[in-house]
Amino acid sequence: MAGRRFLGISATLLALPGLSLAYPADLAGIHQREITARQASESYDYIVVGGGQSGLVIANRLSEDPTKTVLVVEYGYIENDPAQEGSSKFKPTSATAWKQRLLYNVTSVDLPGLNGLKNGPVYAAAVVGGGSTVNGMMLDRGAPENYDNWAKLNNPGWSFNELLKYFKKATQLDLPDPVLAKDFNITYDLAAYGDKNSPIHVSYPTYQYPGIKNQVQGMKEMGVQLQKEGALNAHGLFWFPGALSAATVTRSYAVSGYYRPVASRANLHLLTGHRVNEVVFDKSKRATGVTIQERGTPNGDPAVVRTVKAKREIVLTAGFLHTPHVLQRSGVGPAGLLKEAGIPVVVDLPGVGANLQDHPGFTHGWRYDTDANPNPNSMFTNQSFAQWANNLWAANRTGPRSLTVGNVGAWIPLPQLAEDWKEIVAAIRAQGPADYLPKSYESTLIAGYRAQRELLAKAYSGLGTGVLELPFNARGQAIMAVEHQLSRGTVRVNTTDKYAEPVVDFNTFANPVDPLIAARAWQFVRRWMATPAMKALSPVELSPGAALTTDEQLIAAARSAAGPGEGHGCCTAAMSPRKLGGVVGPDLRVHGVTGLSVGDNSVAPLIVGAHTCATVYAVAEKAADLVKART
Ligand SMILES: Cc1cc2nc3c(=O)[nH]c(=O)nc-3n(C[C@H](O)[C@H](O)[C@H](O)COP(=O)(O)OP(=O)(O)OC[C@H]3O[C@@H](n4cnc5c(N)ncnc54)[C@H](O)[C@@H]3O)c2cc1C
Ligand SMILES: *[C@@H]1O[C@H](CO)[C@@H](O)[C@H](O)[C@H]1NC(C)=O
Ligand SMILES: *[C@@H]1O[C@H](CO)[C@@H](O)[C@H](O)[C@H]1NC(C)=O
Ligand SMILES: *[C@@H]1O[C@H](CO)[C@@H](O)[C@H](O)[C@H]1NC(C)=O
Ligand SMILES: *[C@@H]1O[C@H](CO)[C@@H](O)[C@H](O)[C@H]1NC(C)=O
Ligand SMILES: *[C@@H]1O[C@H](CO)[C@@H](O)[C@H](O)[C@H]1NC(C)=O
Repeated sequence: MAGRRFLGISATLLALPGLSLAYPADLAGIHQREITARQASESYDYIVVGGGQSGLVIANRLSEDPTKTVLVVEYGYIENDPAQEGSSKFKPTSATAWKQRLLYNVTSVDLPGLNGLKNGPVYAAAVVGGGSTVNGMMLDRGAPENYDNWAKLNNPGWSFNELLKYFKKATQLDLPDPVLAKDFNITYDLAAYGDKNSPIHVSYPTYQYPGIKNQVQGMKEMGVQLQKEGALNAHGLFWFPGALSAATVTRSYAVSGYYRPVASRANLHLLTGHRVNEVVFDKSKRATGVTIQERGTPNGDPAVVRTVKAKREIVLTAGFLHTPHVLQRSGVGPAGLLKEAGIPVVVDLPGVGANLQDHPGFTHGWRYDTDANPNPNSMFTNQSFAQWANNLWAANRTGPRSLTVGNVGAWIPLPQLAEDWKEIVAAIRAQGPADYLPKSYESTLIAGYRAQRELLAKAYSGLGTGVLELPFNARGQAIMAVEHQLSRGTVRVNTTDKYAEPVVDFNTFANPVDPLIAARAWQFVRRWMATPAMKALSPVELSPGAALTTDEQLIAAARSAAGPGEGHGCCTAAMSPRKLGGVVGPDLRVHGVTGLSVGDNSVAPLIVGAHTCATVYAVAEKAADLVKART
């Protein structure tokens, strides 16, 4: 249960009503170009649907040309809580305080693969800046092979080497404290990062707990390859920075990096608290505008709905949950589903809302009986340590309290995770491609999955990507994740109410290989804990529990412990050819219509073996370049 409980707890804690905080002066500027619906023009050159993470990146880049007008429509509001936002009251603990008021209230349908889990959480942000405003600020990239596999699905231009310039365009590294870097061997390669013009700062905190040295050394004793720079080689063992500015120790995110600096542009309008209902098409299937309505007004009521026109292009950046929802509501999606919902079909595109992926998470829990001193518990057990930590934070924003979720981890390739890796790969190849897919998948989706699965089987056989994420931060427990799941889910419009939240089926662990990876993960952790470096801490297993030893027991434990996702939902408007169930081409334009593209995490055909924020920045930067180049 541990994994599920962990995610559950953070959500519940957060649901506590927030204190009402005064509006901080240093954030005032971001309201500059916020408009009311009445102030919105009749038409814009570009309309960006969703002012989340990718939407703000694209709006920034498209409005660089002062002769082009840009409207961003966002359902959420600008977040003013300084604990979440950039200001001296910012709290690093916002990394795990996922506030429900900044999220959509959506849960998955029952999940048989997770022992019938009901109401499995679906994490999707509903706030300006989207996921980057609420997330854990863990800013790691996928392994090069992950993006190369995107390119191999008939998507020229999307290999890692071709995307690297966009990763660099988005992020700059604030150098770590040299004394700490030397002590912990935190290495980096500046070739992975951009210069002072890159909007997002990534940095390392000024403190790490000494037990991390045992954990890193234990991984090395396991034979896991230590990388100099994870951002260029995200497999094996590596340090990774967080999305915080080192100078201010505040969240560096789409609002601070991409929106606030350009909020005064006269050609950029942000309309918050409004939902895009539909994209409007003309007879030639060209997207000519969007219908919008204010949050809280009667759904679809002609008295409150208005249309805004787009002269050049509409870019969908409503996230993995709502980009397919908006498309389906607009008549672009699986024809059978649309007919059931009474929506006139513009294009029968079965891939819209299919191919849903995330990272099923589950914990391991150990107690260290001879733990290093100090350790993360010292904050609670040692008053003088806690006092020292509080003083450092209060005086200079340094020390243990500047830590977020952690900065080092191992991404274990299957041949290192499991002795029986060859049999696992053979089992993947032996499956019928449709065996574990949702019933709604038709022939192009099955063909697309077959192509994906071939790439995954190859990835599972090599050392180029981790099938397991195993982060650590000196604690005896951690949330691990199945990085490249074989199961696939769906996001589908509610057929009785197209304005209700979409119906999400994660379909987690439908494919039996996925929980087997979790079982092998727990066995791997046991071997790690038995290395000399880790034995020095006298680890004792608490969960899943040393009594569980057989595959059957461990798989059963995985099915009851795992959560369906970590807020990394993706791939629901996948970049792939139409005959492979794709929704957009490598130019990100939606198949079968014109004037409409997608620029968010939905376009990934395969989930990357990383938290998704860094990837979304790169995708959105490239999306903006593609849109500019053609219009
Ligand atoms: C709680 C949480 C924690 C996470 N932790 C991490 C982490 O530590 N590290 C990491 O790398 N990644 C993390 N992620 C993932 C990462 O933040 C997301 O993958 C990324 O931000 C998604 O960007 P996006 O632009 O695709 O979508 P979003 O940023 O979600 O943007 C979509 C926006 O569209 C808006 N919208 C939706 N429908 C409509 C509509 N009809 N009309 C108008 N607006 C609409 C939404 O309100 C939202 O603001 C986390 C995500 C969540 C939710
Ligand atoms: C989700 O529920 C919370 C209350 O728990 C609310 O504040 C928030 O506005 C809801 N989110 C959306 C997108 O409606
Ligand atoms: C430090 O990291 C580098 C690069 O990953 C590695 O080559 C080196 O062996 C490490 N040194 C120590 C002392 O761990
Ligand atoms: C408490 O922390 C201080 C340093 O802040 C350290 O010197 C001391 O040994 C710690 N006490 C215990 C009991 O660990
Ligand atoms: C804060 O930084 C200043 C300047 O480096 C230093 O003199 C001071 O001792 C620091 N304060 C604490 C509590 O560490
Ligand atoms: C669809 O929406 C209706 C009306 O809001 C709701 O009662 C129903 O539970 C929803 N169906 C699903 C499967 O979520």
